Amino acid sequence: MFTYTDLLAADPDIYHALMGEMKRQSDGVELIASENYVSPAVMEAMGNVFNNKYSEGFPGKRYYGGQEFTDIIETLAIERAKKLFNAGHANVQPHAGAPANVAMYFALMEPGDTVMGMDLSHGGHLTHGHPVTYLTKIFRFVRYKMKDVETGELDYDEMRKVALAEKPKIILAGFSAYPREVNYAKMKAIADEIGAYTVADMAHIAGLIAGKQLRNPFDDGFDVITTTTHKTLRGPRGGMILTREAELGKKMDKSVFPGFQGGPIMQMIAAKAVAFGEALKPEFQEYAAQIIRNSKHLAKFFMDRHVKLVTNGTDNHLMLIDCMQSFGIPGGEVETVLDRVGMTLNKNMIPDDTRKPMDPSGVRLGTPAITTRGMKEKEMDILGEFILRAIEKRSDPRALESLHSDVQNFCRKYPVPGIS
Ligand SMILES: Cc1ncc(COP(=O)(O)O)c(C=O)c1O
Repeated sequence: MFTYTDLLAADPDIYHALMGEMKRQSDGVELIASENYVSPAVMEAMGNVFNNKYSEGFPGKRYYGGQEFTDIIETLAIERAKKLFNAGHANVQPHAGAPANVAMYFALMEPGDTVMGMDLSHGGHLTHGHPVTYLTKIFRFVRYKMKDVETGELDYDEMRKVALAEKPKIILAGFSAYPREVNYAKMKAIADEIGAYTVADMAHIAGLIAGKQLRNPFDDGFDVITTTTHKTLRGPRGGMILTREAELGKKMDKSVFPGFQGGPIMQMIAAKAVAFGEALKPEFQEYAAQIIRNSKHLAKFFMDRHVKLVTNGTDNHLMLIDCMQSFGIPGGEVETVLDRVGMTLNKNMIPDDTRKPMDPSGVRLGTPAITTRGMKEKEMDILGEFILRAIEKRSDPRALESLHSDVQNFCRKYPVPGIS
């Protein structure tokens, strides 16, 4: 649909890389749990003259003139986000999920204060206090884990003990690699005992909450939600901070600008507004429900064939395979062999992994992108077969070549929005 003729004339190198990426996306199977395909409308909203505009400040209170139209789009994005997540306040300016978390931390804490978040090998994100991040030079991070990795239930008793001993300012729910639902009410009760803020980083599951398939942490009294706007929410790459009470939102606004960022990226805010508008439609609820149906179906496919899944199943869009236990090879090897046949997923730590982060025991895969292409349960069986065939034939280049063409032929039946 897009012609990119100006790009071709001006910069053939970039044009050809773009064409290559479009072909890669439509000819291959995207199983990375944090990726998705946006609609052509979202794509159009991302690339246009809003890029040319500086809009420091917020609608109605800007540091530059000429804000007639930027105010319209930012106000629409804010109003739609509030409606989608039942929020008292929305800040749609964070450039991505990590900056949203940084701005949230600085809004609620002083240097030296403590956050209690999920252990990273149990599913937490880098921005929840990985030692490689600068955040750990400023704040203290303490951890909670699953009580039982066979069911995935979090250890709420241990969480309470740690909370009473360490007095965190923030109790943080949220994850990048955890396949189960969180009991927000239990976390909120613990936070109330010590007067801590409750924050959910719902980056991975925002679309499933917006689509009313998973619980909204605000319904259990959480104070703040941070999120990305891509992933399951299927919007442009970006971040957002929501608060339940409008008053707390003022702190978030000040922290995002001028505390941390400069000018908002207005074309991305336009695209966020479009994506939120799409997510407010009833079809999006069906999309979110199908993501989970596909995920549960694929998980069952694997488990029926004695593949070991972390927590033995999934409640959301993702699952983790323990590759060492299932196939006797590390996650990186599975990632590499699947890349060779046009299927993309990522190596991932499993809980309390004894291997290194760059060479972990597992892989993570998810269903948001393949569900956007219209795949359903019967396609999950086909994909499951492809995956197991690739792993089984990993030392047989001819078998892998033949599987690669099977994958490409299969993919042609499921168009990618805006590409095929
Ligand atoms: C839970 C969680 N929070 C934050 C982020 C960071 O988002 P971004 O990559 O947009 O900075 C991610 C991204 O993977 C995530 O999974």
